[in-house]
Amino acid sequence: MNTAAPEFRAEQVKRSSVPRRLRHILALDDFEPAARAFLPRPIYGYIAGACENGQSLSDNRQAFAELSFVPKILRDVSNRSLARSLFGVNYAAPFGIAPMGLSALAALDGDVVLARAAFRTGVPVVLSATSLTPLERVAREGSTRWFQAYLPGEHERIDAMVDRVQAAGFDTLVLTVDVPVAGNRENNVRNGFDAPLRPSLNLAWQGVTHPRWLLGTALRTLAQRGMPHFENMDAYRGPPILSRNLTRALGLRDRLNWNHLQRIRARWSGKLVLKGILAASDAHLAQEHGVDGIIVSNHGGRQLDGAISPIKVLPEIVAAVDGMPVMLDSGIRRGTDVIKALALGASFVFIGRPFLFAAARFGEAGVVHAIDLLKSEINRDMALIGVDNLDRLEPSALR
Ligand code: FNR
Repeated sequence: MNTAAPEFRAEQVKRSSVPRRLRHILALDDFEPAARAFLPRPIYGYIAGACENGQSLSDNRQAFAELSFVPKILRDVSNRSLARSLFGVNYAAPFGIAPMGLSALAALDGDVVLARAAFRTGVPVVLSATSLTPLERVAREGSTRWFQAYLPGEHERIDAMVDRVQAAGFDTLVLTVDVPVAGNRENNVRNGFDAPLRPSLNLAWQGVTHPRWLLGTALRTLAQRGMPHFENMDAYRGPPILSRNLTRALGLRDRLNWNHLQRIRARWSGKLVLKGILAASDAHLAQEHGVDGIIVSNHGGRQLDGAISPIKVLPEIVAAVDGMPVMLDSGIRRGTDVIKALALGASFVFIGRPFLFAAARFGEAGVVHAIDLLKSEINRDMALIGVDNLDRLEPSALR
């Protein structure tokens, strides 16, 4: 006999439909310790880490904690819908998977796994410029329609890359603009992580002491697909992921400016999104340059340490643009965080690390479970806050 209270049964992810090995994962944060035990330390550190003192990383969580709800009661919230439309596409929930480089190093066929899980559950996923799977394959096998580019300030390379992404059938181009240079990630240096990875005794030892990753991810990748390369930085194939003497060239990324954006806008016929905006004046400029949307982000605390948490500047950015979709990422881990961002005017949010931890440790089933958990939290929280429709969320729901 099921003795759970009826209201509890209605909201929780149905345990019986969850694979047994995932039943102890009750929240997004539970994926991290599971992945930490499984992954070699340099790779775990690359995903979990941030830059310098990790101030932005911790503030991204703290900023959400400082916002409290003022729930409304007796509203008949029995007809709740999590659906959200963005750029004319209806999604099952108001969140998606943020672009994450090197996913296929942490998870077997990581880029396709993330894409398939997102497609199955009706949410968007953004393929990273520093991914290790040709974007054409992810478009074909994962039905992904969002691609994130890092473009250098060079016309020919911009044109060639924009044309390649367009030819592959992507309809939304996310240009990340908070990486003119690489962030100072000391933890990568301390852990012996570099991109490309340099063969070393430490790396070999990390492989040997993490045999499930070595056999199930690294060696299987080599056997099935050969040595991974940076496939999507440019219109041509980039360097391999393991190399003794190569350094990954960032190109002339620090030259990129608003004039290049004009050129990109003229050439790209799909939706254009800028990711990594924190200043209201930049949001306004972006709209003047014809972009279709922006992602307010401090790159999950991985670029400029001390960069303000996106949720703190969201209201002023929403006020500075005229009806353009404003999305947000960095630090979202709970349904309540998603709702707080929507209440302050975000059209949509993205989440990074937990989905990659889920893919690394549990593959596609893990990512589907992560998405289901977050959907179920949002569904429950909507009822507790007193709204049945996400469009009814307002800043007055928060203090
Ligand atoms: C990232 N992020 C990122 N962003 C981007 O535009 N291009 C990229 O290639 C990457 N790569 C990347 C790798 C890894 C391992 C992580 C964790 C993150 C940043 C990402 O898109 C997003 O902004 C943050 O991850 C959001 O913060 P949370 O949800 O991880 O706190």
